[in-house]
Amino acid sequence: MIVFVAISTLHAENGHQLWLRNRNPLPVTVNVVGAKSSAIISTAQKELQEGWQGKSGATFTLTLKSDKAILKDGFRLTANGVQANTEAGLLYGAYEILRRQQTGESIKDEVCNPSYEVRILNHWDNLDGTIERGYAGASIFWRKDDPFTVTEKDKQLWQEYARANASIGINAAVLDNVNSSPLILTADYLNRVKAIAEVLRPYGVKAYLSVKFSSPALVGKLKTSDPLDSEVIKWWNSKVKEIYTLVPDFGGFLIKASSEGQPGPQDYGRTHADGANMLADALKPYSGLVMWRAFVYSPNDKDRAKQAYNEFMPLDGKFRDNVIIQVKNGPIDFQPREPFSPLFGAMKKTSVMPEFQITMEYLGHSTHLVYLSPMWEECLQSDTYQEGKGSTVARCTDGSIYPQKHTAMAGVSNVGLDTNWNGYLFNQANWYCFGRLAWNNKLKSSDIAEEWLKLTFANSVSDKNSEVKNNDWEKNFLQPVKQMMLDSREAAVDYMMPLGLHHIMSANGHYGPGPWWAPKGMRADWTPPYYHQVDSIGIGFNRTKTGSDAVDQYHEPLASQFNDPNSCPDGFLLWFHHLPWTFKMKNGRNLWDDMCYRYDRGVQEVRQFQKVWDKAAPYVDSERFNEVQRKLRSQSTNAVLWKDACLLYFQQFSKMPIPYDLERPVNNLDEMIENDTRRRR
Ligand code: GCU
Repeated sequence: MIVFVAISTLHAENGHQLWLRNRNPLPVTVNVVGAKSSAIISTAQKELQEGWQGKSGATFTLTLKSDKAILKDGFRLTANGVQANTEAGLLYGAYEILRRQQTGESIKDEVCNPSYEVRILNHWDNLDGTIERGYAGASIFWRKDDPFTVTEKDKQLWQEYARANASIGINAAVLDNVNSSPLILTADYLNRVKAIAEVLRPYGVKAYLSVKFSSPALVGKLKTSDPLDSEVIKWWNSKVKEIYTLVPDFGGFLIKASSEGQPGPQDYGRTHADGANMLADALKPYSGLVMWRAFVYSPNDKDRAKQAYNEFMPLDGKFRDNVIIQVKNGPIDFQPREPFSPLFGAMKKTSVMPEFQITMEYLGHSTHLVYLSPMWEECLQSDTYQEGKGSTVARCTDGSIYPQKHTAMAGVSNVGLDTNWNGYLFNQANWYCFGRLAWNNKLKSSDIAEEWLKLTFANSVSDKNSEVKNNDWEKNFLQPVKQMMLDSREAAVDYMMPLGLHHIMSANGHYGPGPWWAPKGMRADWTPPYYHQVDSIGIGFNRTKTGSDAVDQYHEPLASQFNDPNSCPDGFLLWFHHLPWTFKMKNGRNLWDDMCYRYDRGVQEVRQFQKVWDKAAPYVDSERFNEVQRKLRSQSTNAVLWKDACLLYFQQFSKMPIPYDLERPVNNLDEMIENDTRRRR
């Protein structure tokens, strides 16, 4: 049962309030026990007073008192209060009760502990205000003009941002791009970091920075940035000290090193461990962390998917305990579907954290409706078998199986200056579900979607008929829209890259199809043909024992299961196999026909989403309704483009007809290629 608040919220909503639309609080008295007043506790009090929807005139108590059952920033929740070991725990408890009041979830005596110690957003924000793979406007942290003035408007935005994060359990943010500028470590920028950190602090959100490995040479003017050089070590030690003087609760560094042209320890003949440990030692006295990325690949290897594992496995056990290896969910790069990275569970003596991408670089940017929680849930619940059955990615990274000192989960942020923060209302759900899954990696995508929908849309229309509307809201709005969200990721896989196809997008910003793209002289591993390997015989990347043998990086029984096309899950078929067009699928169709049906199914599903949304009109304010309707139209057009481009391009090789009961292509291949090429010029 949803508790509808009898108020009128007829005005159009622009999405800026995110899932925090609660207004019109009822009176409550908030008591604090066992704690001196502090910024975080004041935040908790204020939130309760401004959002209370429980019993009018109730008393709610925040108790700071340690309890062995409560871990990290967890809390014990009852209808009358929250108890926690830390101030942040009290704040999370406050948000929890407010959320439950609004969604109508029950409140019983229970302990809620976070799955990961650090729940962190990675902002790929450049210091000139642009955002790499950002689709929601410019950076909220940095700008080109007047870059160092901190305005009241800046502070207000940072505060709203911090509040949104805290409300879903996110407690850290990397403020600049992994392709980082050395300037971030100069005085003016560090002062701005200090200003940002001060606004984030009352919400329990710690600032981290991405740093360039060659900073000692670039900023410090040293002759080298060799991690074993004593001057370099000294330089980092003093830089870290300077940062902590400005930001006493600074979280640590995120580093992309020896990856995609970024400098790293290998430039000096050193290993990732040499580089990471040097920084870890500098941060250790302040309890800072190093998040060292495993996103590495070079053009020389014949299978990009194998490289991170090959490079990092020999280093297992060689990292300091304040280093966490940050691993993208799959072995390539945030594709619509990838198997989990084989590093999960395999590195047993090193802390490993998953990195997910909230911004939808390969999933339709801020135009397509794709709810990402099912994709992340799929990864988190994948069984690695590394310590027997049930060794899921979630359990291999959250400390349940390995005694790792620190645990964390990262999400590449989709936040920008757009009024609605994320460029698309439905992309707010992805920020939301990232936080919820980082807090509790066992949550179900369906429950998270339901929470988000209730918080985001309940009471968005109120008029004379509101009683009637509210009564059927659940049936006519919540259920169908939730189902649309839950189906949306699989639909995108179908119309973009079904059956384990990957990396066949347009090189032009990674939006739309581009299976043909392979200009002369281009690095092969940056072109789609490297990944789909289409020829007259068939399609797919042979990663079996007769091919690159990437299957061998997985623990049994997965290695054998993936190696055999008859036991390999359909979703990964062409990821691991190059198969003939006539290969018989489990459903009895041949591979070509099945591929055609899947592309078509994806398109039909988006059409269905349009119908679901149009029917939802009576339940949504017109501003938000129109935005989604418009975007779904663009998504439909783009889905058809994907289907036509991929099928017509691959058909040149299969030489088989598109099954006649399917809609015929409406685009011409030569025109699509021409348009794609023209856009890139
Ligand atoms: C992708 C993305 C880049 C990004 C890189 C990374 O390749 O396209 O923009 O820098 O991932 O994760 O480092």
